[in-house]
Amino acid sequence: TNIVIFASGNGSNFEKIMENIEAGYLSGINVIGLYTDNHEAFAIERARRFRLPVHIFNRKSFNDKEDYETAVLKQLTRDQVEWIVLAGYMKLLGPTLLNAYPGRILNIHPSILPSFPGKNAVGQALSYGCRVTGATVHYVDSGMDTGKIIDQMSCPVYEDDTEETLQLRIQNLEYELYPRVINKIIQVRSSQ
Ligand code: GRF
Repeated sequence: TNIVIFASGNGSNFEKIMENIEAGYLSGINVIGLYTDNHEAFAIERARRFRLPVHIFNRKSFNDKEDYETAVLKQLTRDQVEWIVLAGYMKLLGPTLLNAYPGRILNIHPSILPSFPGKNAVGQALSYGCRVTGATVHYVDSGMDTGKIIDQMSCPVYEDDTEETLQLRIQNLEYELYPRVINKIIQVRSSQ
């Protein structure tokens, strides 16, 4: 099954997915490339280390979101991509991509959705005084982190946590959760 990872920034989830593939865990899943909207994304460096093709799409060089996504879709079609895996992709998807991949786009978010969608979910859980938070993998729809939930993992929030220590704890959940969900959902649904 051909998948691509969309990332706008750091790309640590992307790297963990690649490590799982190299370790033989995600058998049958073929990462065709990294797609990014940010030419400065550290994820690009990581992709190079895996000798993975990188496609950079600069939203500003297109008139509108539709033109931008049409260009992305052209490449997806060329690459024969079946699933899109968002890992820190910082744009909402529009109808062009959503309609081309119905039920075949996943995202990971650093909170127990529907709590704290959008940016700074970790900081929000902390300042709200949550005693428990976590990570969610969900299908992507047109809303901000609103698609159907697939799986979640939780962790405690400690009295002396900072945003950094809490983020680290959540990211460690993500590194386990995302490969597990990809394995389950993509393998099963692709064979149907
Ligand atoms: C992750 O926390 C993910 O939940 C959110 O963006 C962050 C991406 O981190 N959507 P990284 O780029 O994978 O390190």
